[in-house]
Amino acid sequence: MFFIKEISASETIPLRHIVLRAGKPVESCRFDGDELPSTFHLGYFEEDNLIGIISVFENKNSEFPEEKQFQIRGMAVSPLHQKLGIGQKLVQYAETAIIKKRGEIIWFNARIAASEFYSKMNYHVSGNEFEIPDVGLHFLMFKKSS
Ligand SMILES: CC(C)(COP(=O)(O)OP(=O)(O)OC[C@H]1O[C@@H](n2cnc3c(N)ncnc32)[C@H](O)[C@@H]1OP(=O)(O)O)[C@@H](O)C(=O)NCCC(=O)NCCS
Repeated sequence: MFFIKEISASETIPLRHIVLRAGKPVESCRFDGDELPSTFHLGYFEEDNLIGIISVFENKNSEFPEEKQFQIRGMAVSPLHQKLGIGQKLVQYAETAIIKKRGEIIWFNARIAASEFYSKMNYHVSGNEFEIPDVGLHFLMFKKSS
């Protein structure tokens, strides 16, 4: 049995570390704004095991004109459970929550290796690829609420 529920910022740290910051200091897994009241973190559980995470920040990117913008960060599924539809379920759950908060646009910096995952969910690339130091090449991607 699986379920998705809101979790704390600190609960995201082990999966962020394994999947997104392997071999890097655990401090690199804490993001600015993690503890803000406007931020929320979701966990995908199978029984009691947390196997997928996504974090959502209310954060404006000057590339977009919309007033109410949300950024996705820290999207990760445990290596043994990838490509089973879990990431897609987490993004869909986050999108529903963002629409309830009247978000007009969702954006994020996507690793090039994950950009196809987001394209399949109708996210679009804006501009050229760029380097995030210590993490790698990224695309700015977005989807507007309709
Ligand atoms: C990227 C990630 C979050 C996707 O989650 P997931 O649970 O593996 O993805 P899903 O099973 O929901 O995939 C949905 C679709 O996207 C595809 N997909 C998933 N990851 C992909 C990838 N890296 N490249 C291309 N396609 C991908 C799946 O094959 C599936 O396609 P289908 O519907 O045609 O079968 C996960 O694989 C992961 O944690 N990767 C490592 C960390 C990472 O890159 N995070 C994102 C940082 S921006």
